[in-house]
Amino acid sequence: MEETHITWHDHAITRKNRESLNGHQGCVVWFTGLSGCGKSTVANVVDQKLYARGVRTFVLDGDNVRHGLNASPQLLAPLGDAYAERFGLGFSAEDRKENIRRVGAVTDLFANAGLVTLVAFVSPYREDRASVRERIEASRSGNFVEVFVDAPLEVCESRDPKGLYRKARAGEIKGMTGIDDPYEVPEAPEVHLKSGAQSPDTLADQVIGYLESTGIITNNS
Ligand code: ADX
Repeated sequence: MEETHITWHDHAITRKNRESLNGHQGCVVWFTGLSGCGKSTVANVVDQKLYARGVRTFVLDGDNVRHGLNASPQLLAPLGDAYAERFGLGFSAEDRKENIRRVGAVTDLFANAGLVTLVAFVSPYREDRASVRERIEASRSGNFVEVFVDAPLEVCESRDPKGLYRKARAGEIKGMTGIDDPYEVPEAPEVHLKSGAQSPDTLADQVIGYLESTGIITNNS
C-alpha cells in the first residue's frame, strides 16, 4: 500500500482516565431496524433515563447526521455540483455503506471520550454493521452493543411518521428499506427489542438492564 504520511498520536488523558472520572465505561449502543420501528424514540428514552442518573451520553441519529456530516447531494449543492456529487450521501448501497462507515468512526471517538454513545441508524446491511463492530471491538473489546429494534413492516408502515412508505408504495421514491431495498435482520444482537408490542419506556429499561448486566454502567451510576 502507498505510504500515507499520517501518524497516530496518543494523548496524555486516556479513555480509562475519562471513564474513572465519569464512573462508567464508554460504549456504542447501536440501534438498528426499519424506518419507523422506534429506534430514535427508544434511544431518546434511554438517553433521558441515563442523563437523570448522571451517565454521560449522546445520541447520534441518522436523520440528524444526514443534515450535516453525512449531508445529501441536494444539501451540498451550494458548494457546487462536482463537490455535492463527490461527498453527498443518498440511499444507494454504496452511500449507506459510507454513511455507516463515517458514523462508525465518529462513535469510536465518542466511546473513547468515555460516553455511552446511542446510535440510531437504519443500517440495513449486516456487513456494514459488522465492520463497525470490528472497529469498536478492536479499539476496546466488548463494548459494542447491537440493539435490534424489531417491529413488523406492517407496524412501521402503519405509523409512517414521514409518509415515506406511502411514497415508496406509490413509486415516488425508490430503494426504501423494507419495500424495495433489503433489511438484513441481525443474527446475534446483544439486545432484541420487540418494538411493536411494548412501550418505549419498557424497551429502554431492557437496554439499560443489559448495560448494567455487563458492568458498562453500574446500578448506582
Ligand atoms: S441508513 O440506511 O443509511 O442507515 P439512515 O438511518 O441514515 O439510513 O437514514 C434513514 C432515514 O432516512 C429514515 O428514517 C427515513 O426518514 C429517511 N429515508 C429517506 N429515504 C430512505 C430510504 N430509501 N430508505 C430508508 N430510509 C430513508
